[in-house]
Amino acid sequence: MRRITIVLGLLCAASVGMLAACGGGKPAANKSTGPEKITRPEVAADYKGKTRPATASAEEGKKVFDAQCASCHGATGNGDTAMGKALKPPSSDLTNAALQDAIGDDYIFWRISEGGAFEPFNSGMTSFKAMLNEEQRWNLVAYVRTLKK
Ligand code: HEC
Repeated sequence: MRRITIVLGLLCAASVGMLAACGGGKPAANKSTGPEKITRPEVAADYKGKTRPATASAEEGKKVFDAQCASCHGATGNGDTAMGKALKPPSSDLTNAALQDAIGDDYIFWRISEGGAFEPFNSGMTSFKAMLNEEQRWNLVAYVRTLKK
């Protein structure tokens, strides 16, 4: 995933004329202009409207989060880690209440599944669909919801 991001970055740098392919001049969709103004793109069609199974376990999700997500998003989810802050864009603060209120479970499941190496994110967020099964990813969604401050 990181290699893809680097390649994309090089492509962008090499082709100033193709700015549209790199997000153009507009601010990246994942950079909020203030906590109250968080907007995110529509959930991709393959994921839109998916609902979290009632059996999803935040407790199980925490175990996976600590192992797979905390390096970037921090043990508390606030993104305050060296790696999280070094990434461009930086790792999201998953404790942010305005963010949590602005996104649905389908969005969270989508982002965990597909990561961020595509428009409009172009980020280092890892794709987990090959590594974690659907149950594990829904457990993570349940856990992410508990991080809201
Ligand atoms: C290699 C670092 C990295 C890892 C590992 C990582 N993330 Fe991320 N994540 C990011 C970055 C950077 C962003 C912000 C850019 C973006 O939205 O793609 C992000 C964004 C997100 C978002 C979207 C939030 C928003 O602002 O829209 C969610 C949800 C998320 N991560 C959850 C997770 C979960 C759960 C895991 C573990 C299964 C995880 N991430 C692992 C780097 C990471």
